[in-house]
Amino acid sequence: MALSKVCVLSLLLFSLPSVAQDDDHATMQAKFPNQYQSWASTVELKQRKDLLEENPALVILWAGAAYSKEYHSARGHAFAVADVSHTLRTGQAVPAGEQGLSASCWTCKSPDVPRLINQMGVENFSAKNFADLGTEMKNVIYCNDCHVKGSSELALPRPHAQKAMEKVNLPFDKQNSAMQDSQVCGQCHVTYYFRPERSNIVNIPWIFGNTADKIEQYYDTRRFYEWIHPISRTPLVKARHPEFEQWSRSPHAKLGVSCVSCHMGNSTDAEGNTFTNHKVISQALNNYDDVCQKCHKSKQALTSRLDHAKADIAAKARTVEQLLVKAHYEAGAAWDAGANWEMMNAAIMDIRHSQWRWDFAMSSHGLYAHNSKEAHALLDKANEQVTAARTKLAEILENLKVTKVNYPDYSTKTAAQKAIGINLEQLTKEKQKFIEQEIDKHWPAVSQVGYQN
Ligand code: HEC
Ligand code: HEC
Ligand code: HEC
Ligand code: HEC
Repeated sequence: MALSKVCVLSLLLFSLPSVAQDDDHATMQAKFPNQYQSWASTVELKQRKDLLEENPALVILWAGAAYSKEYHSARGHAFAVADVSHTLRTGQAVPAGEQGLSASCWTCKSPDVPRLINQMGVENFSAKNFADLGTEMKNVIYCNDCHVKGSSELALPRPHAQKAMEKVNLPFDKQNSAMQDSQVCGQCHVTYYFRPERSNIVNIPWIFGNTADKIEQYYDTRRFYEWIHPISRTPLVKARHPEFEQWSRSPHAKLGVSCVSCHMGNSTDAEGNTFTNHKVISQALNNYDDVCQKCHKSKQALTSRLDHAKADIAAKARTVEQLLVKAHYEAGAAWDAGANWEMMNAAIMDIRHSQWRWDFAMSSHGLYAHNSKEAHALLDKANEQVTAARTKLAEILENLKVTKVNYPDYSTKTAAQKAIGINLEQLTKEKQKFIEQEIDKHWPAVSQVGYQN
């Protein structure tokens, strides 16, 4: 190995201190240096955005749920454990014997999760508190999250993903290689919820199918909700990043173009060996020459097409968000004026269904690129549903002789959080205490990647 490469590797070892804790790192690095080194370099993808600041309407739509406290865009895999540890969403330690946030929140951050599930059983794992298992998370998204330990063969270690694929009659070992490539990503980049009646285990809600309509049917049939919006009293469900589902019905999936084709290109090392670049990047267009060009004839045309799709979908989403904010507050005004469930039920269900579709489109990062047709269809339907809700609410408000609704100021994140009663300063102070007393002192080094002084 060239000397320069050794230096680069030892620098990487230094910036990812977890490496020293596990012999497996030394073995994998020696056996697969190119894959190892490119995997480790996801630590370079440190940019992220405060999405509540960029779009304060989110604070209002998620009022009552932890997402209204903090929500950042995704960044490189190396930060997964540290980001979930530091976010205000995961809060702080729970007094002994009390039930806090479920350890299921660790599921898509670390290969220590399948390890613990094997040791403890899945229900015992998810019944634990998130904070109590911080000391066990020694590795961040690593080889054995996608491979059989010690080998290059692909694997699917998470039980929720294995079960979901069995449900749709496409178990991992029956999949072709393009599907397996996407499937390893689809353990985490997929919709899920925690099953309250089974100690909060992670479940993929695909019994009826995996479109927004079918998943909604499943939740509605079970009368399932994750939280109640404090203003409108709407029982809501949070959609979570259905990249896998939406890709699976895209033109690319039909042609065998997988997540891996676009997000992990091929690279060549100094000796001329090609390998799969394990620096999983968001900018798929970086692989234009190698991948896209086979089917798309102009990079410029493709770039401009992507930009337009992104802008058009964002504009539609902003419209739906404004209407949803209004609907929540109009419903709030109706409750305040004495409305009852009988009067409100239909309008509240419209709000639930609209916000679900909007979220299914927006929580899927990159839907404008993965399946723009689906994005438009979801947002058009969400717009129809929230408009129907507002028509019903206008009638209710008229019957109750309410002539004025006080809408919140959500011109900034600060204003929006104030409107729904979030004291960010206080939350930040409490979290900081937890970070200093617990994470910094007792949790493995991967929980600090990106947060060291
Ligand atoms: C997020 C999932 C993921 C992680 C994490 C991951 N790999 Fe891979 N790896 C893949 C995929 C997908 C392929 C491509 C399989 C194919 O289509 O041939 C691959 C291919 C490989 C190959 C086959 C040769 C090549 O370059 O295509 C090796 C060797 C390999 N990985 C080693 C590693 C090592 C070592 C680590 C940990 C440092 C690692 N992988 C982490 C998903 C992953
Ligand atoms: C074990 C769960 C897991 C697996 C497997 C996984 N991811 Fe991720 N991925 C995450 C998490 C968590 C984040 C967000 C990390 C953060 O922001 O701290 C993320 C972030 C990303 C990002 C954003 C990167 C950036 O720089 O903005 C992309 C793109 C991505 N993943 C694609 C993939 C692809 C493609 C695969 C399959 C080869 C894959 N992921 C496999 C959990 C996973
Ligand atoms: C045809 C290529 C292609 C395929 C296939 C594909 N993606 Fe993407 N993906 C993109 C492009 C292009 C973007 C937008 C990147 C940008 O705007 O810079 C994107 C964006 C993303 C993002 C958002 C990154 C961020 O930081 O906001 C994630 C996460 C992601 N893809 C994961 C996946 C997963 C998981 C799969 C498979 C289930 C997949 N992608 C399949 C091309 C693809
Ligand atoms: C095997 C052929 C093939 C490859 C390789 C391929 N594409 Fe495509 N792509 C298609 C087809 C077919 C369509 C659908 C027809 C159309 O809309 O042009 C499409 C559509 C798209 C769209 C529009 C998607 C939508 O839902 O609006 C984007 C964006 C895109 N491709 C990006 C990429 C990027 C980026 C790459 C490389 C990383 C890539 N494609 C690689 C065949 C391919």
